[in-house]
Amino acid sequence: MRLTGKVAIVTGASKGIGRAIAAAYAREGAHVAICSRTTSEGEEAAAAIRATGGDVIYKQADVSAMADAQGLVEETVDRWGRLDVLCNNAGIGMLRTLEETTGEEWRHLMSINLDGAFHCAKFAIPAMRSSGGGSIINIASVASFVGFQADAAYCASKGGLLMLTRQMALDYSPENIRVNAICPGFIRTPELEHYLGQKSDPEAARAEVVAYHPIGRIGEPEEVADVAVFFASDGSSFVTGAHLSVDGGLMVRP
Ligand SMILES: NC(=O)c1ccc[n+]([C@@H]2O[C@H](COP(=O)([O-])OP(=O)(O)OC[C@H]3O[C@@H](n4cnc5c(N)ncnc54)[C@H](O)[C@@H]3O)[C@@H](O)[C@H]2O)c1
Repeated sequence: MRLTGKVAIVTGASKGIGRAIAAAYAREGAHVAICSRTTSEGEEAAAAIRATGGDVIYKQADVSAMADAQGLVEETVDRWGRLDVLCNNAGIGMLRTLEETTGEEWRHLMSINLDGAFHCAKFAIPAMRSSGGGSIINIASVASFVGFQADAAYCASKGGLLMLTRQMALDYSPENIRVNAICPGFIRTPELEHYLGQKSDPEAARAEVVAYHPIGRIGEPEEVADVAVFFASDGSSFVTGAHLSVDGGLMVRP
């Protein structure tokens, strides 16, 4: 097991990629705190991971609220006495051009996708410092690098999250706190279904999305989770400020 004894937080872990990451961390021996906005879904996810032998707690927390992020970190440290890993996964999508996006919609998306990582890291870093170091993993996107049509706020937020990853690595690596990003391609999650459902022809959109990936399919949440384990583990002890695309080759397309 690669994470034995480590204490980890995974945000937005009631479903999708975050849930797969929390399950993988628990399977590798970590104590895991998960959060989401909806208590029933989050408790269900925690119970499912516990049923496989994982040591997991659930806390309802909205990462867009700084006080919720603080409470999540404090409860985790109260429970297990340290913090080693923070995976900033919580995020939402929004299919709008810039003109179509209202000010409220822009702020709402940024408050989760970008402010959420800021809030959680702000409280996680002192806890990691007290624990002798740690690893922060930001779930960015291929949209950190390339634009997708009518996806203005999302692409901007993921570009910002990748740059925040690099900047934080600079500030905190001397204290043995590593910061890395994972940039998934399209992954089979409830959010992807929601994204496709907003298109005028969802099945045509699905085929188009599959075709983005030279590997010929969309990804599975567990394929992102495997990389999140690597970044959380001591196997990546000399890796910081990096990103790894988990995208079936999407980024090498012309
Ligand atoms: N699915 C993809 O194709 C894909 C591709 C690239 C990047 N991503 C990124 O991966 C992450 C997870 O995506 P997913 O597809 O699993 O999404 P999802 O919608 O399936 O799950 C999102 C999770 O985040 C939680 N969440 C949303 N807003 C929150 C908030 N304010 N506070 C706390 N929790 C909140 C939800 O409750 C849920 O548990 C996101 O950051 C997303 O941008 C996804």
